[in-house]
Amino acid sequence: MTITASAMTTIARHTVNDVLGTLPRSGIRRLTDQVMGSRDMDDAIQLGFGQPQEATDDLIREAIIKATDERTLGYTENAGMRALRNAIVTKLAARNQINTDIESIFVTPGATYGVAVTIGCLINPGDEVLVPDPGYPNFAAAVRHYGGVVKFYQLRQDTGFIPDLSQLTALISPATKVLIINSPGNPTGAVIDAGMMEQLVRLTRERGLWLVSDEVYETYVYGCRHVSPLSFTGNDHVVGLYSFSKSYNITGLRVGYVVTRHPALRRALLNAQELYISCAPSISQYAALQALADGGAYPEAMRAVYQQKRDLVMNMLGPYAGRYPDGAFYLLVDIGFTGLHSDEFADRLLRDTHVVVAPGATFGPSSDQYIRIAFTPEVEKLMAGLTRLKQFLSQWPIAGYEDHR
Ligand SMILES: Cc1ncc(COP(=O)(O)O)c(C=O)c1O
Repeated sequence: MTITASAMTTIARHTVNDVLGTLPRSGIRRLTDQVMGSRDMDDAIQLGFGQPQEATDDLIREAIIKATDERTLGYTENAGMRALRNAIVTKLAARNQINTDIESIFVTPGATYGVAVTIGCLINPGDEVLVPDPGYPNFAAAVRHYGGVVKFYQLRQDTGFIPDLSQLTALISPATKVLIINSPGNPTGAVIDAGMMEQLVRLTRERGLWLVSDEVYETYVYGCRHVSPLSFTGNDHVVGLYSFSKSYNITGLRVGYVVTRHPALRRALLNAQELYISCAPSISQYAALQALADGGAYPEAMRAVYQQKRDLVMNMLGPYAGRYPDGAFYLLVDIGFTGLHSDEFADRLLRDTHVVVAPGATFGPSSDQYIRIAFTPEVEKLMAGLTRLKQFLSQWPIAGYEDHR
């Protein structure tokens, strides 16, 4: 069969977006699919997912029912309901020491969308963005999707997975536009303290960069304080990304918010809200309003539960425990001594022990020596999963390796 010139043009047009059409599937999803699609994985233990297993606050569930009873199912303002944005302004002042107004708040369907839309509003094709490695995979994916260039900066275990200022400075080029930070960090559990945060705010101000700060784990801090870069004055090029997902255990409701004082970015975000979503789901906004009305009792209870789980996991891991996570509900285990790539390690662990972990390679090009454990399951399952993991790890001698970490 011969293909005519016009048919060839049509075939060439039958392509999809280069980036979205070729993004690799996340390692976590790949492994989870194996568990879900298999009958003999009934006893599988999921240490791969960042979703708490505790019950959601009843008051939030009641707020959702009330909102549906009152038939409040219509569109809201593009930026989010005024009542919710007012409550967020109050929350930011009280808990984050951020002075702002409701024009600075954009309610989004989760921070997943918050990350993507913020990057989309900030960069043009060819702009460089500094992205943490290891870091939340969506940062790099969003940059690539909008035609930006990802420049990874390394977070090293021996410096507590905290950004290194001299490395950042060396990476900045005339094309660099944005620095992304994430504290408490996924997958590292590292928390950036006030001194370092101030330096990061100063560095980005002096070098004319945007600072995008992902704070979705803000309430999960253990024995230290969460610091928001927006609490420092004198830099209007700081953007804060927040979520109700983890703090209130409502990941499925898809609700979070972006905060910026910058007029041009506000305008771009408003246009993007109109273009992509019109508004965040109204029911979820009512749930978020109720969440803020509780004054922080639920997140505090969850924080205490997760501090205990963190301690339990670190004790159980013994020689395999890496750096103590000061926040979030993740920790990295260095598996370099096994000689396996993290994908291969995770595949074999799942095959042999039915435990799911996240392979480090998912989190960046220099993170292959790690696996990430999410200590989100209930305690019994968590302990069973760790027991299986430790037994699996014991096939390889660890002696001597610790010196090289
Ligand atoms: C660092 C980080 N940012 C954003 C998100 C997305 O959260 P949300 O449920 O609000 O979309 C996650 C989810 O795991 C995350 O780990």
